[in-house]
Amino acid sequence: MPQVKSAVNRGLSRQEPVTIVIFGATGNLAHKKLLPALFQLEQAGDLAAGSRIIGFGRRDWSDEHWRDEVQVLLSDDESKQTPELTRLLARLGFQNGDYESEQSFTSLAERLLGGQYPACIMFYFAVPPEAFGPICQHLAAANLVDQTHGCRRLVIEKPFGHDIESAHALDSLLHRHFSEQQIYRIDHYLGKGTVQNIMVMRFANLLLEPLWNRNYIDHVQISHAETLGVGGRAGYYESAGALRDMVQSHLMQMLALIAMEPPPSMDPEAVRDEKVKVLRSIRPIPHRAVHAQAFRAQYQRGMVKGENEIGYLDEDGVVPDSITETYAAVKLYIDNWRWKGVPFYLRTGKRMTQTHSQISIRFRDPPQQLFRETAITRTEPNWLLIGIQPQENVRFELQIKTDGLEMRTRTVQMDASYTTPEREKLDAYAALLLDVMRGDQTLFLRYDEVAWAWRVVDPILKTWAVERDYIHTYKAGTWGPKEADRLFDDDSHQWRNDMSIPSA
Ligand code: BG6
Repeated sequence: MPQVKSAVNRGLSRQEPVTIVIFGATGNLAHKKLLPALFQLEQAGDLAAGSRIIGFGRRDWSDEHWRDEVQVLLSDDESKQTPELTRLLARLGFQNGDYESEQSFTSLAERLLGGQYPACIMFYFAVPPEAFGPICQHLAAANLVDQTHGCRRLVIEKPFGHDIESAHALDSLLHRHFSEQQIYRIDHYLGKGTVQNIMVMRFANLLLEPLWNRNYIDHVQISHAETLGVGGRAGYYESAGALRDMVQSHLMQMLALIAMEPPPSMDPEAVRDEKVKVLRSIRPIPHRAVHAQAFRAQYQRGMVKGENEIGYLDEDGVVPDSITETYAAVKLYIDNWRWKGVPFYLRTGKRMTQTHSQISIRFRDPPQQLFRETAITRTEPNWLLIGIQPQENVRFELQIKTDGLEMRTRTVQMDASYTTPEREKLDAYAALLLDVMRGDQTLFLRYDEVAWAWRVVDPILKTWAVERDYIHTYKAGTWGPKEADRLFDDDSHQWRNDMSIPSA
């Protein structure tokens, strides 16, 4: 049966205005991601006339004061205001309030329900998880979750819990006041055009499908590296670490898109059902196999892009004996017909050589080495490389004969770069905010996806949590510790760090 969306969740057309309430409007996420994304939507003409944005926060600011702050944040040249910025600023209002105070929410409700604001309301929780409970409770008490007169949507950011149990507790809390159709769990990787392109590449082309299985694919690598350290986020990062921060969320989502079966339609539930099937087919890691399947490390002082950078333990807010991992690598197997026996290697690290994310798929060797009697002793396998960022492209690696009389081969790359440098790209957050406005949940996580992803990493987290004496280290500015190679199933496996052809 196709899913029939209810009237309130049917989604707004581009023209219908919406009220966006940002809890945590003066925080990092709002400044770095949400306000710039809303500005991008304004510039693209995607914010409907009449839409309003309310910042909710503890500061005793007037609407004008917040507008001034946002103007400084968004304009390159403060003396000039573009028409788009003027339009965006006119939409802004600030509501001074405290998450713990019922009165603050009564005032918010008076403002929102007084007839001056669009009836459809999105609540964006750009706040630490401890604030989710009180906000939900107070919204409900102030009659702000009832959908009789307009939609109510809740947007939340990871961390969706800290482990399976806390994720479950958080979910029960949200569901006490909101239905699943009202909850939009953001994984901003799903808003990236390159990540969405995985599905298009797989399901809009017939070419790959016959090869897309254990018979032809040797292994898959999903790698995210960044040159940045933890910066000012040690408070959060110390309790998260690379496994929770990147692997459980973004990398596992990319794995699901690479490995899923074609969905019967692009309906949000159909797509998410297929992702869940992959996640639940991942072979559970028994505690005794954690060391064979997972590796963690922490960066030490080193040179990154010509600059001397401090080690993790010297970062502000990090405890001196911290064993929080800034690098995590995991090997997973998907026990289904398509993928049985094919290792999926996932890796992420901070303070690495380059900021670079890519998916690398290695095909098997041809069944017969026909060129054994020639100068070619061994041919390289085919690879498909999918650049996620900063390069957005797809490359096939093939073997061809070199010039000359001798029978020798070399690797060549067929490159499909699909973005032009000039193109104005919609940021992942802008794309996802637009989807929330339209009521499209396809690119948001359903709770069962979150829960299954936690189930995969949980044994690793539990083992690491008790092994507190030692953590491997790597020098900032490198590709991580060599010891991580112990995860590989075969001596011929090695990380593809970037899109270049590895030297022989
Ligand atoms: C965030 C993590 O979710 O994703 C960060 O919390 C990480 O630690 C970031 O740096 C990476 O996102 P992007 O879009 O910069 O690749």
